Amino acid sequence: MLEIQKSEFENYFKKFDTKNENLLRKFNHSIRVMNFSIEIAKSLYLPEDMIEIIGIAGLLHDIGRFEQWKRYETYSDLNSVDHGKLGVEILKHNNYIKNYVFNDKYINLIYSAVYEHNKYKISDNLSFNEEIVCKIIRDADKLDLLKTQGNSIKPNVIFHKEILENIYNKQCCINRKQENEADKIIKQICFIYDISFQYSLKYIKNENILHNKLQLLKNSCPENTNLDDIENELNNYLIQRLNDKQ
Ligand SMILES: [Fe+2]
Repeated sequence: MLEIQKSEFENYFKKFDTKNENLLRKFNHSIRVMNFSIEIAKSLYLPEDMIEIIGIAGLLHDIGRFEQWKRYETYSDLNSVDHGKLGVEILKHNNYIKNYVFNDKYINLIYSAVYEHNKYKISDNLSFNEEIVCKIIRDADKLDLLKTQGNSIKPNVIFHKEILENIYNKQCCINRKQENEADKIIKQICFIYDISFQYSLKYIKNENILHNKLQLLKNSCPENTNLDDIENELNNYLIQRLNDKQ
């Protein structure tokens, strides 16, 4: 599936320093997000053409990352550019999108998914299809980050206490300019408050993701006894969402 698009994406990647670990990490992340996006779309029984478009949106969601690293050597949007917006500019330049999408009626869906994927909240003026595609890409992106990042931490790295407020308020964290490893793990844990689909909630539960991340924090900052209560609270939230079956 999507062989033409995958090989075009590889060609695009080859214009950059493919040996650079930071760039290679984003290339591999893009492929995995494509796969997660397809799985979520299938779980919703969407039509075949939509599943394909959603896979392409997953593949392209981070296309701005390579240029961002080349220009600024950082993935911090706050310290460089909005990589979702940059991605749309790259796809629009000389109609580069046409190498991936052959039916014009889907092009705006891709633009909107790439643009919206890294925003704190998605825009509220999206069409029905735009909203579904954007939410799938956001879930898929988060699932891959939850699975592959934040799985180790140096000892004695203590999170900033105020970040915990986000867990109590059941909201995602706003990006900060200065984040330590523990802050990043809490930020990832809060991703669950922006997860839209049952497929993703089940994945998080089955992979034991919340427990593993909290265990890291407990080992790194053992004096913080609150973490057991927080784990219970998070588990209850997850179970409640799984039972909602919205
Ligand atoms: Fe991204």
